[in-house]
Amino acid sequence: MTQKTQALHAILTAQPVMPVVAVADVAGAVKLARALAKGGLVSIEITLRTPAALEAIRAVADEVPETTCGAGTVLSPRQFDQAVEAGARFVVSPGATHALVRHVEDSEVPLLPGAASPSELMGMMEAGYELLKFFPAEQLGGVPFLKALAPVFQSIRFCPTGGISMTNVGDYLALPNVLCVGGSWVAPKEAVEAGDFDTITRLAAEAAALKA
Ligand code: 3PG
Repeated sequence: MTQKTQALHAILTAQPVMPVVAVADVAGAVKLARALAKGGLVSIEITLRTPAALEAIRAVADEVPETTCGAGTVLSPRQFDQAVEAGARFVVSPGATHALVRHVEDSEVPLLPGAASPSELMGMMEAGYELLKFFPAEQLGGVPFLKALAPVFQSIRFCPTGGISMTNVGDYLALPNVLCVGGSWVAPKEAVEAGDFDTITRLAAEAAALKA
């Protein structure tokens, strides 16, 4: 394992659930990161799906030292650079392109790229990746799909995301090829909008207590 992969592996094995959040504003993002960390989820993925995302990553990186903040929904080399410049400690993409994989080679910040078929997995293995996102997990076949991949792709470990919640998370975490799952259920939009950070801390604590 390269140093970069080791760093990513440490992040993905430190907690069973990676909160995947879309933030509306910077101040809310800082409060959200603190509430999640208080519940035990100290790594979070802020997705580049809102105009505030990059500034939010910068603010969380600067103001919430207990949190390891990553960037998600990174679709291009340019977004990768913007995320790294903002202070993202890891970067997540829903898939992967040759351009993105080539671009990130020399960066010290690890990439968790998505792969969703045997050919895509083989492509990622050729590029030196063994830690992969699997998105959208439920829609792509979920637990049975990942189970079927395990004997063939023995070195690959996944972080599935998409459609996972407290009702099915246990089935994913029980798979030997799953390191952790990603999900937005620990930071529901209504709770964030209402400033109900106690609920978020409670949901985070419940998720953090799951066995990976
Ligand atoms: C992601 O980007 O990983 C997903 O949008 C998270 O999916 P969820 O909202 O279904 O948890």
